[in-house]
Amino acid sequence: MEVRPLHEVFAAELIGADLAQDPDAALVQTVEEAMTRYAVVVVRDQTHVGDDEHIRFSRAFGPLELPPSLGFKTSGNRRFRWELYDASNLDVDGNIEAADTLKRRYSKGNEQFHTDSSFNDLPTKWSLLFCHIATPERGETEFVDTRAAYDRLSDAMKSRVDGLIVEHNVWRSRERAGFTDTDPLKKALPAVRHPLVRESASGRKALYIGSHADHIVDMPLDEGRALLDELTAIATEAKFVYAHKWRNGDLVIWDNRCTLHRATEFDYLSHKRDLRRTTINEYGEERAANEGLRATAA
Ligand code: OGA
Ligand code: MN
Repeated sequence: MEVRPLHEVFAAELIGADLAQDPDAALVQTVEEAMTRYAVVVVRDQTHVGDDEHIRFSRAFGPLELPPSLGFKTSGNRRFRWELYDASNLDVDGNIEAADTLKRRYSKGNEQFHTDSSFNDLPTKWSLLFCHIATPERGETEFVDTRAAYDRLSDAMKSRVDGLIVEHNVWRSRERAGFTDTDPLKKALPAVRHPLVRESASGRKALYIGSHADHIVDMPLDEGRALLDELTAIATEAKFVYAHKWRNGDLVIWDNRCTLHRATEFDYLSHKRDLRRTTINEYGEERAANEGLRATAA
């Protein structure tokens, strides 16, 4: 196996892995090490790999985060095993969805830089997104490294942000995307708090921000939001972005603790795009992001 960098500061391709095989210790170690260093790892040419293997491979690195029950049904989520999050534009029958469905509006929120499940109380380790059908053009997924972003901050900014606590809500990101009927989400997913600066697997400090970040605890709302926006702008400057151009059979793994990502637009009504995601936590039971919250909020 070989690990080949894809970008100046992060992201690499792992060559020579076969994800259809039961992952052995050598593969697990290679992936863990590459992820620690590069934070985004791409494995290509896996068109022979199905959902079962995708899930088995993911579980070798941590317990699955199961998709939350948000209090409403999204169509499309029964095309395949329910452990997978559906990032496609397809309905239950595999046809392109209409423009105005709830699922479509919900996934529009993914076009803002975010880190998956920062509204989870458990630390979300990685996301593993598998491409079954790529679009012929556009529809890239963009990534940035928030360890590198932290390193670029001035000393004054570093001391300003170290120690701050951020409250994250899934409805904040949907609100920004023009999704206003968020009540079911509010009930399903109460807010959680995480440090703004956290240590990543490499030991380097990373910014833990993104579109679910609502406000900074003990700071006036506007001031906190302005600071979050400023940090996001620093982190997502175009020259620091790795844009992944999808091919069928690509698996892209990213570390949610030290990267941000976003979907980009494509011709949604003309082209099928079928991406399915597993998400894993650092530790804990396999459960939906909102289950523990429901238990503690009661
Ligand atoms: C995701 C996501 C981006 C995309 O699956 O978490 O943000 O390009 N996807 O579909
Ligand atoms: Mn995402």
